[in-house]
Amino acid sequence: MKGLIFSAVEHAVERVFGPGEWDDVLDNAQLDGAYTSLGNYDDAELVAIVNALPEDTGPGIDDRLRWVGVNAMPFLVDAFPKFFEDIDLRGLLSSLNHMIHPEVRKLYPGATPPDFDIDDSEEGIISLRYQSERKLCWLAEGFVLGAAARFDESITVKQPQCMHVGADHCDLRIEIHPS
Ligand code: HEM
Repeated sequence: MKGLIFSAVEHAVERVFGPGEWDDVLDNAQLDGAYTSLGNYDDAELVAIVNALPEDTGPGIDDRLRWVGVNAMPFLVDAFPKFFEDIDLRGLLSSLNHMIHPEVRKLYPGATPPDFDIDDSEEGIISLRYQSERKLCWLAEGFVLGAAARFDESITVKQPQCMHVGADHCDLRIEIHPS
């Protein structure tokens, strides 16, 4: 996983829990934490960090990955403001596969962000089909929730199918509530 994501987690932890907390997380995870945006790091390090987060981020790995997604999004917004300009959540999600993640692949050689199958044909609903060996569907849920917060949109995210309960892919069903 690219260092950019680790930097986003660091910023989230420091913003929410205060300066110094990131060092405690790294100590708990037994990592030295010298992450650079362009560097590539073992996915296991992200898992160790998520497990070492403060208890308030949630009891399970699912809650914690959602927490990471929600709270890391402001860092991504600051780093890539143009992706979030003149757009809403529906537009952002539609541009994930053909703009955002392809741009990430160009800017960060070696990055392997996921491709989603996106279905927005149903009024008020967007479905993202997610398949990745990393099985980070809860992180994806968090990113979607974090992006919705950025646009001040109210949504509900459910997973009628999930790789963690035996399916071969995850379906994120995002319901956008009328404002
Ligand atoms: C709501 C929108 C987004 C969703 C649902 C999403 C989802 C994900 C997920 C689930 C991953 C983990 C990799 C995997 O599962 O294989 C990932 C990786 C990544 N995403 Fe996104 N993402 C979103 C927006 C963004 C934005 C705005 C950026 C900023 C440019 C971004 C940059 C990245 C990067 C750098 C990685 C790491 C790839 C790697 O290290 O190989 N994503 N994304």
